[in-house]
Amino acid sequence: MKEQKKSKDEILDLTVSFVQDTLKDAESGHDWWHIQRVWNNTKHILQHEKADPLVCELTALLHDIADSKFHDGDETIGPRVAGEFLHSIGVEQEIIEHVQHIILNMSFKASLGEVTFHSKELEVVQDADRLDAIGAIGIARAFTYGGFKNREIYNPNIPAQLNQDKESYKKTTSPTINHFYEKLLLLKDKMNTPTAKAIAEKRHDYMEGFLEQFYGEWKGDQ
Ligand code: ADP
Ligand code: NI
Repeated sequence: MKEQKKSKDEILDLTVSFVQDTLKDAESGHDWWHIQRVWNNTKHILQHEKADPLVCELTALLHDIADSKFHDGDETIGPRVAGEFLHSIGVEQEIIEHVQHIILNMSFKASLGEVTFHSKELEVVQDADRLDAIGAIGIARAFTYGGFKNREIYNPNIPAQLNQDKESYKKTTSPTINHFYEKLLLLKDKMNTPTAKAIAEKRHDYMEGFLEQFYGEWKGDQ
């Protein structure tokens, strides 16, 4: 007998359980809470932008299922794990392939290289993920990452400046404040959708305010 086709909600419920289980020991930058925030951002953007909700939501849930950083830089492992899971719960092949293409192409690093795939659904989820890298959450994540890597929070002898140079982003081992200029402050201009752009403007201003306060306190302003 052919298996009954699952509803969107059933597919999403199964995916949530799979992701929560898979990420239960994940580091805090890419734990379940990051996924939940990106999923929420995705649902918010979908209220204003026209894109396939199932593809977007599945991709939001599965986009960090296996980070290439922890798999010898193998960028194909994430899409493979996501695809195997979706296949196992009976999702249509066309949807699976779309989700896999987005995951492979949406990371910041991928966006610095050749763009090989494009869709409205990619735009939505990429924006949702980028929003989680800026604002108050973005600041918290950056310093968590820097602490994990044992980086200085700031060093006035290592100049921080807006840096669009691809190579320097890949090589950087600079203090965490520099990461704002290498990536975080660039993200608002990289948003694809007007909905995310508007949210990014507010989060960007918040980071600018944070930096101003930070330098003030560093100098000894009271
Ligand atoms: P993505 O969100 O595309 O998976 P990363 O894995 O590069 O991005 O980063 C995860 C989190 O760690 C993000 O919030 C990012 O800003 C932060 N991060 C990445 N690289 C650095 C760095 N060199 N210094 C500080 N924070 C970083
Ligand atoms: Ni992510």
